Amino acid sequence: MLSSIKTISTNSKKRFLFIRCLSITHPKTKVVITTDEAIEGIGSNITLLSGGFGLSGVPDTVINAMVNHPAINNVTAVSNNAGLDGRGLSQLLVTGQITKMISSYIGGNRTFEKLYLTGKIDLELTPQGNLAERVRAGAAGIPAFYSSAGVGTWLEEGKLPVRYDETGEKVLKASEPREVREFNGRKFLLEPAINGDVAVIKAYKADTLGNCWFRGAARNFNSVMGRNAKLTIVEAEHIVEPGEIPPEDVHLPSIYVDRVIKSTTPKDIEIFKYSEPASETSEEPKSENDLKRAKIVKRAAQEFTDGSFANLGIGMPTLAPNYLPENINVTLQSENGILGLGPYPQKGEEDADLINAGKETVTLAPGASLFGSEESFAMIRGGKIDLTILGGLQVSSKGDLANWGLPGRVKGMGGAMDLVSNPAATRVVVVMEHVDKKGRPKILNECQFPLTGKRCVSRIITDLAVFDVVDERLVLIEIDPEATVEEIKQKTEAPFEVSPNLKKIEI
Ligand SMILES: *[C@@H]1O[C@H](CO)[C@@H](O)[C@H](O)[C@H]1NC(C)=O
Ligand SMILES: *[C@@H]1O[C@H](CO)[C@@H](O)[C@H](O)[C@H]1NC(C)=O
Ligand SMILES: *[C@@H]1O[C@H](CO)[C@@H](O)[C@H](O)[C@H]1NC(C)=O
Ligand SMILES: *[C@@H]1O[C@H](CO)[C@@H](O)[C@H](O)[C@H]1NC(C)=O
Repeated sequence: MLSSIKTISTNSKKRFLFIRCLSITHPKTKVVITTDEAIEGIGSNITLLSGGFGLSGVPDTVINAMVNHPAINNVTAVSNNAGLDGRGLSQLLVTGQITKMISSYIGGNRTFEKLYLTGKIDLELTPQGNLAERVRAGAAGIPAFYSSAGVGTWLEEGKLPVRYDETGEKVLKASEPREVREFNGRKFLLEPAINGDVAVIKAYKADTLGNCWFRGAARNFNSVMGRNAKLTIVEAEHIVEPGEIPPEDVHLPSIYVDRVIKSTTPKDIEIFKYSEPASETSEEPKSENDLKRAKIVKRAAQEFTDGSFANLGIGMPTLAPNYLPENINVTLQSENGILGLGPYPQKGEEDADLINAGKETVTLAPGASLFGSEESFAMIRGGKIDLTILGGLQVSSKGDLANWGLPGRVKGMGGAMDLVSNPAATRVVVVMEHVDKKGRPKILNECQFPLTGKRCVSRIITDLAVFDVVDERLVLIEIDPEATVEEIKQKTEAPFEVSPNLKKIEI
């Protein structure tokens, strides 16, 4: 669009400004009708970015069109996870079209894990916040950045297994060790940007020029990936005319988008969770294990302070707000882009675009806000979250946490490394059973499993005890009314001090 600006002086000394548009060429529509047109020109040896978190906001229509496409092979796919078997990117894993994944989490189904553990694919496990920021940096022309996530872990040391042999026992290729640098007395790792050739994303609304609007928590990785690649393909539930999305509500400006196609695949929900009527919540835990977990969860609920912001891990931590003391308000953050989680929905009110980090249906509390994964983790890494409660596999006496991988059982770190990466600002509370299923201690001198974070844990809550980590030493501060210090000593490998103010756990 060309325009000329002329300034003309008049006798009255007023100056008039004329703006004359010589030509306004209305930009061409980016809408394509067939999936063949949508994926035209995509070839082999590419880096493919795919939006979505769990089953939310996944560009299924475009991905389905790539399955078994003869031209699309040897793909490096960048996606937080790979969907479920038979859905999303896992289909391209099964066909062998994807040869490398860059992800934070393997997800609920086994195909991905099996291919990885039998040496069929490369996997670059990346903390979820680093993943979002590596994509954001690539989009913004920044080649690398320093991040605190993963300091002191296999990420720093270059020990994350990238490729196994056929037996899954030998690591043939490991990750690149990271350059470490200190800023203001804290360590950071140099993380390289990711630059995509093609991005496939899903929007709720796109206009014919490519401006996009995302609904609920389905923005997740979609907006940041949509900004990154050389070729960005949007599938939208609704295609509208320019101007129908108010300019101030455009989440992804048209400049980033090349093609728009109507989404034709239905939305799915991975885990339906509902608020139960009060009568049904009268907890009568069945097993001894349920009783233990209920105790842990109730004690964990006492960690919330009024007016604070908290992020809760999957499992026991997610249940803690059910036992929130009455006079306390907390705002819950969900890593996939929600600040202000409400309760689980009533039956019939579930929404595929509103899920939490555990892929469960949720609602929004009044005053909630929604954003993309890159902003979610900026909030987390930037220390705006006051408290994170996470599950643990092992904790060391110095406050190291291991909670993302077992030998031979890989899940991925998801957002956990990011969540514990700023412990001076975000208090890290670990909830776990005191001993594992075989009765072995989980509080150890040193963690045996790969670390999530080093020297990051402030408090450990188990079914038997509460410990604080003070100057890299464990202090027993509370004890189950039916346990003895002697029993705790037997079930804890790490040495600990007993607080002079030792209390009974009250729940
Ligand atoms: C992909 O890379 C391989 C190895 O570098 C090369 O032989 C092949 O021609 C490439 N394919 C395409 C479509 O670029
Ligand atoms: C796969 O693609 C990568 C680049 O993305 C290239 O380096 C590699 O040689 C390719 N492998 C094959 C077997 O084409
Ligand atoms: C994988 O998902 C399919 C459905 O998509 C399900 O039938 C199967 O049980 C799942 N497998 C595992 C190991 O979770
Ligand atoms: C919690 O928030 C609600 C709604 O904003 C408010 O009515 C209530 O007074 C708050 N409670 C406390 C203890 O701040």
